Amino acid sequence: MCGIVGYIGNNDAKEILLKGLEKLEYRGYDSAGIAVKNADGVHVFKEKGRIADLRDNVDETVLSNTGIGHTRWATHGPPSKVNAHPHQSTSERFTLVHNGVIENYSALKREYLEGYTLKSDTDTEIIVLLIEKLVNEGNTVEEAFRSTLKLLKGSYAIALLDNQNDETIFVAKNKSPLLVGLGDDFNVVASDAMAMLQVTDQYVELMDKETVIVTKEKVTIHDLEGNEVSREPYTAELDASDIEKGTYPHYMLKEIDEQPAVMRKIISAYRNDDQELEINQDILSAMNDSDRIYIVAAGTSYHAGLVGKQFIENIAGIPVEVHVASEFSYNMPLLSEKPLFVFISQSGETADSRAVLVQIKELGHKSLTITNVPGSTLSREADYTLLLHAGPEIAVASTKAYTAQIAVLSILADVTARSKGIKPKFDLIHELGIVGTAMEALCEQKEEFEAIARDYLATTRNAFFIGRHLDYYVGLEGALKLKEISYIQAEGFAGGELKHGTIALIEEGTPVIALATQEAVNLGIRGNVKEVAARGANPCIISMKGLQEEDDRFVIPEVNEILTPLISVIPLQLISYYAALHRDCDVDKPRNLAKSVTVE
Ligand code: F6R
Repeated sequence: MCGIVGYIGNNDAKEILLKGLEKLEYRGYDSAGIAVKNADGVHVFKEKGRIADLRDNVDETVLSNTGIGHTRWATHGPPSKVNAHPHQSTSERFTLVHNGVIENYSALKREYLEGYTLKSDTDTEIIVLLIEKLVNEGNTVEEAFRSTLKLLKGSYAIALLDNQNDETIFVAKNKSPLLVGLGDDFNVVASDAMAMLQVTDQYVELMDKETVIVTKEKVTIHDLEGNEVSREPYTAELDASDIEKGTYPHYMLKEIDEQPAVMRKIISAYRNDDQELEINQDILSAMNDSDRIYIVAAGTSYHAGLVGKQFIENIAGIPVEVHVASEFSYNMPLLSEKPLFVFISQSGETADSRAVLVQIKELGHKSLTITNVPGSTLSREADYTLLLHAGPEIAVASTKAYTAQIAVLSILADVTARSKGIKPKFDLIHELGIVGTAMEALCEQKEEFEAIARDYLATTRNAFFIGRHLDYYVGLEGALKLKEISYIQAEGFAGGELKHGTIALIEEGTPVIALATQEAVNLGIRGNVKEVAARGANPCIISMKGLQEEDDRFVIPEVNEILTPLISVIPLQLISYYAALHRDCDVDKPRNLAKSVTVE
C-alpha cells in the first residue's frame, strides 16, 4: 500500500526511481509519480494508473541525480493525477511524497492554513504547505520539517526535496515503513528493500519519529528531540531472482508452485543438528507461561490463525482465541491472567495488527510475531519473532505465505507440546515432508483446476465454499482468494450454517465448492452438499483420498488429517487463479487491493 523511493547520487535518478517503483507495484497502487531535481529546478511527473503510464509521460531529456518517487493507494480523494504524489508547496520550493494517513489534517488545515488553496483532496498536501509556511516564518528547513512532524497525528513515511538545496533528501517516518539504503557515493530511500535492491543490499532501519538527512555521502539520523542516533546497516538477504517472475506468466502462479519448496525450507530452518524441530527457548517459555494465546491477524493471515488455533489447542493443550486485528482495539475481550499475543502477518506491516501490538504492549503483555519479513515493524516491535522463510511474496493474493504460516504454527504447537512433556501423536517432520510431496502432485495437475474454473466459475456471479471443521477455515480462505482476484462474489460457510439463512441465495446453477477432507464430518458435509444440490446448486466436491465418493470432482492426496489445510487450499488457489484468467482479471494486481495494508 503506497510506496516511496528516493535516490541521491551521481547517476540519472529517474530510471532508478521508476525501476524502484516497478518493484513496489506489488504493494498495490492506483497512481504514481516522481520528482527529480537538477539545476533548472524540480520536475514533477505524475499519472493515474500504472507505472508504465507514468514512464510514458516522463520527459526523457530531463537529467538529474536526485529524486523521490511514490505509488499511491487512494485514501483521501479518488485516484487521479492531481491527487497523485509528489505534492508541492505554494511556491513549488518544496516537493513531498507521503505514505500513511494524517488523522488531524482537517484540524491542521483550519488552524494553520487558513487562506491557502489546496490543489488536491489529499491529507498529504497540508504537510508540504506547513513546511513552507514555517520556513517563510524564519525557520530553517530542518526546523520546519521537525516542527511540522510534531504537529502530525497518524502515520507517515515522508521524503522531501527542497528546490534550494541540491544536496539533501529529508526523510521521516512514524508507523509507516521506510528504510534508507547505503551505497558508494549514493544513498537511497525505500519503503522496502526490494525496491532498491537494484543498487544496494545495505539498509538502515528507521524508527518511529526519527528524521533523516540523506545526502549522497552520508545518512544522518536524529530522534524527534534532535539527538543524533547511530545505527548499523544490515544486509537485505534477498535474492534478486526471488523477486523476478522468471518464465511464469504471473507471480501468483510462481508462488503457488513454490509451496512444496517452502515446506522444505521451513523444515530445515526449524530442524536442529539432532534432526529435531526446535524453536527459540524464550518463545517456548512464553508459550508455556501463558494461560491463553490470543492470535491477532487480518485477511488470509487470520484464516491461517484459525487453523493455528486447532494446532495449539489440540497438540499443545493451550486455549487459543483468534481475533480480527481491526476489531480488537475497541472490542478487546476480557483477557486471561497470563496472555500471550501472537501476531500473524506476512508483511509484518499491517497497521491494524500493529495498533493492537502497541495497545497490548502498553498493558505489559508479551508478544510473538510470525512473519515473512525479518526486520518488519511487527517483528521489531514484538518480543519474539518466528520467520516464515517463504521468500518474497509479490502477488497481492497471498498463497505461499498462508501455507508457510500454517506450517510454522504446526511447528510451534509441536515443539511446545514436547517441551511440556506431551508425547507427540505423529512425527511432524515426516508428515510435513509428505505434505510437500502432496503439494507437488497438486501443482502438477493444473489442467484439472483450470477445467474446474472453466466449468464452474467462468461466468458465474457468485459462488459458495463450504466445509466443516478445518475444511470450513480453508473454505473461508478459498472464498477470499476467489473474490479478491476474480471479483466473483464468493463466501465461505460452515457446512451446517448455510441452511440458517444463506441457502436462500442458492439458485439453479450456483457453484458450491465443498471440501471433504475430515473423516469425522464427512457424512455431515456430504449431507450439506445434498441440501444445496436439491435446490439447484452445482456442487463441486474436493475430497481427500480415502474419503472420496463417486461423483467427487477432485481427490487430493492423503496427508495427516490435521495438516489437510496445507494441501486442500492448493486446488482453491489454483481454481481462483484460473477463474481470474478466464475473466480477464489482473491476477497479480487486483483492483482496489494493496499487498501491505499500512493504514488502519
Ligand atoms: C489476501 C491477503 C490479505 C492479507 C492481509 C493481512 O490474499 O493477502 O488478506 O492476508 O491484508 O496481511 P499481512 O499478512 O501482511 O498482515
